[in-house]
Amino acid sequence: ETMVWEVDGQHPDPAKLQEAAQLLRQGRTVAFPTETVYGLGADACSSEAVAGIFSAKGRPSDNPLIVHIADRSQLEELAAPPDEAVSRLLDAFWPGPLTVVLPVRPGVLSPLVTAGLSTVGLRMPDHPVALQLIAAAGCPVAAPSANRSGRPSPTQAAHVLEDLEGRIGGIVDGGETGVGVESTVVEYAGGALHILRPGGITLEQLRQALPPHIPVLEASPEHQEPSAPRAPGMKYAHYAPRGALLLVQGRQGTAPEQILARMQRELDEARARGERTGVLTYGEYAGAFRADCVVACGRLDDLETVAQGLYAALREFDEAGVGFITAQACPEEGIGAAIMNRLRKAAGGRIVTL
Ligand code: TXA
Ligand code: MG
Repeated sequence: ETMVWEVDGQHPDPAKLQEAAQLLRQGRTVAFPTETVYGLGADACSSEAVAGIFSAKGRPSDNPLIVHIADRSQLEELAAPPDEAVSRLLDAFWPGPLTVVLPVRPGVLSPLVTAGLSTVGLRMPDHPVALQLIAAAGCPVAAPSANRSGRPSPTQAAHVLEDLEGRIGGIVDGGETGVGVESTVVEYAGGALHILRPGGITLEQLRQALPPHIPVLEASPEHQEPSAPRAPGMKYAHYAPRGALLLVQGRQGTAPEQILARMQRELDEARARGERTGVLTYGEYAGAFRADCVVACGRLDDLETVAQGLYAALREFDEAGVGFITAQACPEEGIGAAIMNRLRKAAGGRIVTL
């Protein structure tokens, strides 16, 4: 009963998008590709529609949704006019993987979207299917990642169907997404830009786009922990495969051999306990491990390839029925900050630092 429309990601068939848009206008949920991950969309002005997102995903109702728009002029209908600093970011990165948190205009969006906050996260995605679908729907589209709550985000239509088939109205299958991790969520407050969630736009890119007197502050690891959520989604287990994942990272100067040796020891111990084992590593080290399921996710010398493959890699362990996974850390520069943020959450506190 979940409708599937297959379209060309670059040149989607307008007739199919019209059908999908009509479902959205009727208050149903429709999944669609963006440049980051697949989103599960609904009319952001209708509480009935938005409730359908929360129930399909099993998402806690206090975790607000990002509202997607197809045109910058929609921003003014939904939120207070952005500060100069935020305007610069929109000029530089929209359409693209940047979500800005702004004071919400009362009375337009369903209160479920903002989970009772006085702010709303807005984003204009850089994907022809997403942009044309939102424009055809004629309403702002609330869309979290189209996975069951807690699971790795979907970068392919098959991932969405795995998690949500029969629970959503439809899906526009426009092929694989590009960036592979979600948008960067930022909020400008007190003269500084705060990164609430690292993502597709890097810290370095944000700094470059802003005048030097505006500091860009990373969500510190403590802010990414359960106790102090600035982005409310931070307090929930996320992105996790079904098996237990142990993240092994080095300090500056730790030799890679030391990290590999520790990972192999953990794998051997898990196997001795009778568990099926998995390892998340990178192309450079694909042959370095003995495990039931070795996933080489992109290459360390090209972190964008790691981001692209990360969520599919995490899902592979589930398919292989792996009970224990050890993951190799990557450098935290550029998109590496977003990758490590997701790996830490997937690890749920199981982190070894050598
Ligand atoms: O790339 C993306 O952002 C994808 C695609 C589909 O656009 N969407 C996505 O949505 O990742 P979701 O719901 O999985 O993550 C939304 C994040 C959460 O961490 C949430 O807490 C935060 O944005 N967020 C939303 N509204 C907020 C607000 N008003 N204040 C602070 N954080 C907010
Ligand atoms: Mg999500």
